[in-house]
Amino acid sequence: MKGVKIISTGYYIPEKILTNQDLEKMVDTSDEWITTRTGIKERRIADEKDAVSDLAIKAARKAIEKSGIPKEKIDLIINGTFTPDYPLPASACLVGEKLGIKNVQMFDLSAACSGFIYSLSVAYSMIKTGLSNYALVIGSEKLSAVTDWQDRNTCVLFGDGAGCAILGASHEEHFLSFSCGADGSYRELLYIPAGGSLNPATEETVKNRLHFVKMEGNKTFKVAVSKMAEVARGAMKKAGISSEDIKLVIPHQANIRIIEALARFLNVPMEKVFVNIDKIGNCSAATVPVALAQADEKGLLKKDDIVLLVAFGGGFTWAGAVIKW
Ligand code: UT7
Repeated sequence: MKGVKIISTGYYIPEKILTNQDLEKMVDTSDEWITTRTGIKERRIADEKDAVSDLAIKAARKAIEKSGIPKEKIDLIINGTFTPDYPLPASACLVGEKLGIKNVQMFDLSAACSGFIYSLSVAYSMIKTGLSNYALVIGSEKLSAVTDWQDRNTCVLFGDGAGCAILGASHEEHFLSFSCGADGSYRELLYIPAGGSLNPATEETVKNRLHFVKMEGNKTFKVAVSKMAEVARGAMKKAGISSEDIKLVIPHQANIRIIEALARFLNVPMEKVFVNIDKIGNCSAATVPVALAQADEKGLLKKDDIVLLVAFGGGFTWAGAVIKW
């Protein structure tokens, strides 16, 4: 076996829809502002009783069924998330438990919106080196649990969801490149100030709403545009492909203006760029795998098609991958 491939994909988005009109009743905003500034019309909100592992298993069950691989053969579960069920243990262990998988490697990977591509790169390396045979790689987020529903700067942006892929060894290499990076000096532009070891939870942190996502949107926007372009170019160069070779770009869905800027930079027409931000908003690490699974479900990907995945998120982190389908 020389390479690694995606055997199957799956996704789950909750049924409950929160529209821009609903948000107009909650904070000082408008459908017009949200639509023109972000491209988002509605987002999905998970049931209160569902945690991230519950969203993840709904996506995973579909991927396992499609793969035809018995779940007993899965020997690695990675969940890219920053909204795990608990700070301890990792939500991947709970995913395993709920799927009836145990005694294998399971861990969470925290790289915010780049979490799924980072997780793919780890699973790829582990399969390549023989540390794993079949990997369940997930991006799952319950952002509604860490969203400040009084903060119009952020609450209009986020949604819940989960997507995943099952990876295994193959005769041919399907992962043509990865390009990942990060810069922690940007940490306070997009973060949750409290609840970690620096600022553990106190009455004060709760009162000051420090357990919710804070973002300096405009500054984040500028870095996102340049880093998404840079990492996409880097992944393409490593893979030895040009824009014309790309069948589909699957970008992180934080803002339609960022996606359009990326398409212009890459000289790829928007028809070749997968967009679902209008329907599900920004689901952080779940965004790329949900989009990939939806593209797969729609039959947009045929054998040997070249797919470019690109993401950017808190950290800041950024990641790109070129896959031959
Ligand atoms: O997923 C990880 C990475 N995340 C991103 O890449 C997100 C990057 N950032 C963005 O997508 C955009 O910066 C936002 C959509 C978050 C904001 O759009 P913007 O065009 O950068 O707006 P802004 O932050 O510069 O704010 C412009 C104005 C402000 O009012 P003033 O100060 O000009 O009077 C905001 O208070 O828009 C106001 N504003 C709103 N108005 C109505 C901010 N949020 C809202 C809102 N409704 N929801």
